[in-house]
Amino acid sequence: MYPQFPPGFRFGMSTSAYQIEGAADADGKGPSIWDTFTARPGAIRHGENARVAIDHYHRYAEDIGHIADAGVHDYRFSFSWPRVLAGTGFYDRLVDTILEAGVRPVPTLYHWDLPQDLEDAGGWMNRDTAHRLADYAGTLVRRLGDRVRDWITMNEMSVHTLYGYALTDHAPARGLGLEALPAAHHQLLAHGLAVQVLRSHGAASVGVAGQHFPVTPASDDEADQFAAGLFTDLTNWTFSDPILRGTYPNELVQAGVGVPEAQLERDLELIGAPLDFYGVNYYEPTMIEAPKEGKDYTGVLEVDIPDGLPFSPVPVKSDERTDFGWAIVPSGLTEILVTLRDRYPNLPPVIITENGASFHDAGPGPDGRVHDPRRISYLDGHVRAVAAAIEAGVRVDGYYVWSALDNFEWAAGYDERFGLVYVDRETLDRTRKDSWYWYRDLIAAQHRG
Ligand code: FCB
Repeated sequence: MYPQFPPGFRFGMSTSAYQIEGAADADGKGPSIWDTFTARPGAIRHGENARVAIDHYHRYAEDIGHIADAGVHDYRFSFSWPRVLAGTGFYDRLVDTILEAGVRPVPTLYHWDLPQDLEDAGGWMNRDTAHRLADYAGTLVRRLGDRVRDWITMNEMSVHTLYGYALTDHAPARGLGLEALPAAHHQLLAHGLAVQVLRSHGAASVGVAGQHFPVTPASDDEADQFAAGLFTDLTNWTFSDPILRGTYPNELVQAGVGVPEAQLERDLELIGAPLDFYGVNYYEPTMIEAPKEGKDYTGVLEVDIPDGLPFSPVPVKSDERTDFGWAIVPSGLTEILVTLRDRYPNLPPVIITENGASFHDAGPGPDGRVHDPRRISYLDGHVRAVAAAIEAGVRVDGYYVWSALDNFEWAAGYDERFGLVYVDRETLDRTRKDSWYWYRDLIAAQHRG
């Protein structure tokens, strides 16, 4: 039995440009910060890079077939900013192919692949980058706005800021610690400016995709509660509070973003402009404690939080983990949706813009199939968690699986397979996994009213 969703609920699949396209130099495309970062020895597991990735740039027609045949309503992908600077021809063809397949394109403007020359000029630490993003948004909406009606401005500004600017695990690997907060503000400003540009060119529906997760203190101890509160402020609310209630969550963050007061007020007004939907990416919850002297915290999160910060992640209690080591806690998705609803009286309808799991699937066996029962169980648990949130009164209008196809999982390279479609690393051949068939059947089993 498949869970039932309200009529009009939209199922989809998600990808991002850098993780699938490859064709690193095609069309005269210049490098992004990820091309630079992946070339650095030791940056990526097994020294892998995404110069070819899964060659979606050349195989997009086949890939859109895999997406459309599952019966999804929406396909979320992203534009490569450096490719767009060299021309929009690829995205013209891609959008036409998506529409011809009967699917709604839901592109993201920015999914982490900043043009390297903008990074050289300061990247997201430079306020001007926000204005450059607005220009880039203008190019795209002028070129594609006749066919694309739904737009997502930015992907996971929190992860980009934390891993790329505060730490060194992702591009551009700045390692600025709390000094990275201006990068958060400038991305938020970019979001606000992009909303303005998209709307002024008639975009019908505009949203943003944020990563959210419940943060639980490891104990009732006051120090642990304080540490967990600070961590959730920095990772969850620093990014959604300005958008959904026009403020920063606390004075530390507000001072840290380093914007003079009069300017800050104007920026926050722009950043807080109403949205048509709010995208939530959810993978796993986090547990935090105040650092205990002499205790080793390495390997708990995908990246290590350096010593000296006032919080430390501890393993979440969960019997089940993905092959990436992430805790499997579907109820965390219901919980964060209810928390968002309670925190933001003006929360627009939510779309789950990413949810999924990495398992190290084996390639097709003698029966030609890729059996991935654990992914099916993960997805089944999480779509039920969405249904439970709807039951609890949260308005959720859609759910997109991360990801349509196995792809380049950032610093973890290609070992971590999130796809509904298996991609052979040697031949790049695609095979629909059992989870693809499960998803197709879930969608087909909805009573469309
Ligand atoms: C999210 C990213 C996405 C993908 C998944 C697994 O944080 O937005 O690109 O890597 O995690």
